[in-house]
Amino acid sequence: MNNTALKIQVEKIKVSKIDQVDFDNLSFGSVFSDHMLVCDYKNGSWEAPKIVPYQPISLDPSAKIFHYGQSIFEGMKAYKDENDEIFLFRPLDNCRRLNISAKRMAMPELPEEFFMEGLTALLELDKDWIPRNAGSSLYIRPFMFASGTGFHASPANQYKFIIATAPSGSYFAGKVKVLIEEKYSRSANGGVGYAKAGGNYAGQFYPTQLAVEKGYNQVIWTDDNTHENIEEAGAMNIFVRIGDTLITGPTSDRILDGITRKSILEIAKDEGIATEVRKITVSELVEAAKKGTLKEMFGAGTAAVVSPIATFGYRDTDYDLPELENSYASRLKKRITDIQYNRAEDPFGWRFKV
Ligand code: COI
Repeated sequence: MNNTALKIQVEKIKVSKIDQVDFDNLSFGSVFSDHMLVCDYKNGSWEAPKIVPYQPISLDPSAKIFHYGQSIFEGMKAYKDENDEIFLFRPLDNCRRLNISAKRMAMPELPEEFFMEGLTALLELDKDWIPRNAGSSLYIRPFMFASGTGFHASPANQYKFIIATAPSGSYFAGKVKVLIEEKYSRSANGGVGYAKAGGNYAGQFYPTQLAVEKGYNQVIWTDDNTHENIEEAGAMNIFVRIGDTLITGPTSDRILDGITRKSILEIAKDEGIATEVRKITVSELVEAAKKGTLKEMFGAGTAAVVSPIATFGYRDTDYDLPELENSYASRLKKRITDIQYNRAEDPFGWRFKV
């Protein structure tokens, strides 16, 4: 590539796989673009990133990722507008959060220019993989893991940072039904809940499987201490609308500082919607549902964007949310996606042209 100060070495694929992809029927994160960015950390520093054909990687069986789970990731998307121009949404925030996660997991921080220049070079090369269809985008998965070896339970001395991308459609198909979880916890005070560590998600799989067996798609996590406060919804942050006020829990050691979450809060304020960032108790939620003042619940995240929750289950009762004509969820989703796809002004300065 000639547009980077970093001199990113590029090895192009011989034959593209793009013709095998049905861009009209994309699922989420299951087909992968032609190339990936790879960057190795050795001898105390990051080597220059390389772009290579998307391919399996070979690791020593004693690589510490397998034993001690030093693994972090980010979720981002690239959007194409009607003139085929390419945009990212607040990409530096993802880079900074990756480094916050890295610090917590005793992994090396990645220089911002490696992330930004590596990502833009990769997107320029694989730009044909960014879908044009409404509601689709190129999901971007930057991730870092311990490739250094040894059974000693201590941080590895070698790491890999990779960016792989996947043309994707919606994360959820159909209505979202969630169960308030009171036994298992996603995170604890002083733990790693705020980091985007792979294990935070693995730890959710079993309780989520139990909820799926009962007919729900996701779990609503409550705090580990009292199980009285609503914290996150599966892989998303959670918002509730009681009366006309939009409420989400405060970020903490236990909650991911979601980029969609904080953007939704700013957009809502800009729209004149009353917002509160405060604890939401399960009893408040159930009371509001019983009284009919609970108008909406929705999850917010990069993959899920804004996903309205149709029903929540608590103990043995299901509470259905009303279907509103002009819901906050649909207004806020339209505003954020209009910014992301360059269909509207971006008064916040979040859109990043590649
Ligand atoms: C995202 O929203 O991009 C995430 O990283 C969540 C993931 C588990 C799909």
